[in-house]
Amino acid sequence: MELEDLIALTEAESSQHAEIEIRVCTAAGCLSSGSRSLISALEHAVEDRGLGDRVGLREVGCMRLCCEGPLVSVNTSTSDGTRVPTLYGKVDAAQAPDIVTSVEQGRKSAEALHSIDPNGPFFAHQKSVVLEHCGIVEPERIESSIALGAYRSLHRALHDLSPAEVVEQVTRSGLRGRGGAGYPTGLKWATVAKMPPGQKYVVCNADEGDPGAFMDRSILESDPHRVLEGMAIAAHAIGANQGYIYVRGEYPIAISRLDTAIRQAKRFGLLGSGIFDSTFNFRVDLRIGAGAFVCGEETALIHSIEGLRGTPHPRPPYPAESGLWGHPTLINNVETYANIPVILREGADWFAQIGTEQSKGTKVFALAGKIRRSGLVEVPMGVPLREIVERIGGGSPEGSSVKAVQTGGPSGGCIPAELLDTPVEYESLKALGSIMGSGGMVVMDQDDDMVGVARYFMNFCMDESCGKCVPCRAGTVQMHRLLDRIERGEASHDDLVTLEDLCDLVQHASLCGLGQSAPNPVLSTLRFFRHEYESRLIEFSGPPSSAVSSDPR
Ligand SMILES: Cc1cc2nc3c(=O)[nH]c(=O)nc-3n(C[C@H](O)[C@H](O)[C@H](O)COP(=O)(O)O)c2cc1C
Ligand code: SF4
Ligand code: FES
Repeated sequence: MELEDLIALTEAESSQHAEIEIRVCTAAGCLSSGSRSLISALEHAVEDRGLGDRVGLREVGCMRLCCEGPLVSVNTSTSDGTRVPTLYGKVDAAQAPDIVTSVEQGRKSAEALHSIDPNGPFFAHQKSVVLEHCGIVEPERIESSIALGAYRSLHRALHDLSPAEVVEQVTRSGLRGRGGAGYPTGLKWATVAKMPPGQKYVVCNADEGDPGAFMDRSILESDPHRVLEGMAIAAHAIGANQGYIYVRGEYPIAISRLDTAIRQAKRFGLLGSGIFDSTFNFRVDLRIGAGAFVCGEETALIHSIEGLRGTPHPRPPYPAESGLWGHPTLINNVETYANIPVILREGADWFAQIGTEQSKGTKVFALAGKIRRSGLVEVPMGVPLREIVERIGGGSPEGSSVKAVQTGGPSGGCIPAELLDTPVEYESLKALGSIMGSGGMVVMDQDDDMVGVARYFMNFCMDESCGKCVPCRAGTVQMHRLLDRIERGEASHDDLVTLEDLCDLVQHASLCGLGQSAPNPVLSTLRFFRHEYESRLIEFSGPPSSAVSSDPR
């Protein structure tokens, strides 16, 4: 495979484009609401009308507005070659003939269907960098990815840039890890690259265990070649020849699409030996996790890949120095790798002008909860939370109002509605006692009880604690017990003091990030919604809190 082959494939692919393309979302959300039977019905309708030559059916990934699934986009070519999309939501298989009839009659939309404005606020206020091809590219066809530019950045990295220049580009872009902690990606790559030559590994962390998070799953289901290309560029930059993608077993569609993508890339000579006629060899294998949240922590993940029990170990040494089987190992998140091809394509400076001084680029969020429009959202770093919740998400449904936004899952916190003008960037969220996390964003309304929210996340951490260190193993159980008593109205003021002491202890004495961050949901709800705790204490004699539901369970 050479650059000319990529170009030839791109031309062959565009020459096959049908006059009208019907794209159906086949990511997990839409598949679970019936897009598979919809595709069969559309196939039959196209065949029945004899439109096979004019209409192409494409199985694509997430189109972002997941709450309206299954989503269908009808794209008609205009005389200047551009495609005008019409988007339909909640499409039932029985409505397939209506879509095909409107296509046949050249009507812009099918009246009987629920059409969605593709330029409406949900889409118009987003910025597509990582998700630029989601919902357009066909994840199970490498030709479709190549036609949209996949593997060109890898070619450039191998032929036009030295490994050091690739690291320099990534460093200058200002990209920070999207897995939660926001560690500078270029610095991590430089650390692994500087280790003495020998066996090195590249690992993609696709464990995504936060409740409410589905960004990484959507990226893998929708555009898997983008992640493979990012990993291959990383391998070239640090001198690795083997990569692993650690993906949770609960993501069968992502696993199957990754498996297909790896096989196709091998067949096309884009993974394996002598990639693009160079001396670069890179192999990628999948490792399937068994659903333990702690296995997303990098040292536990390494143990798990090695076939050991997935428990963390103290750092240093960091995986960059001593990772898989003691060799230098680069671990990055799915979204981090998905940013790499575009950084090499558009340049580090282009990337660095998106976002803020300390948080560059965009961030993908999984927007969910008490919100009108939920789904995948990609925005430049630094936009106010309000932009995501109110303009993109449309705010809370009729009759309710936003009370708080939870970011960062069990390691994060709840930001109250009064602070919705906070910019979304690593430091500002941390200053509020929350974290950016990997991108889960759950909106809560006035009916949500914040003590219950804290108890829910503590229950999660208690269940997921690996038990290796006492502060986390015993502390999460005790904190959960206290939260339970507070929620039931059986706790005293002394219990609340004990809860706060325990938060401090578990935060500072736990071995890994799970325990260190487990108190965060408690601390942030105590900081912003303390009245909901205090009004439940047995000594409390003030007015009842309107925010405390009468039956929290
Ligand atoms: C309990 C726990 C769970 C984690 N889960 C994930 C995860 O699912 N995905 C992820 O990318 N990082 C996760 N991390 C962070 C990883 O340890 C690591 O920092 C990250 O994969 C590095 O990639 P990045 O620099 O690209 O963010 C987790 C950390 C902890 C403490
Ligand atoms: S902090 Fe919790 S999850 Fe982490 S090593 Fe200790 S017991 Fe295990
Ligand atoms: S899963 Fe179909 S639009 Fe997101």
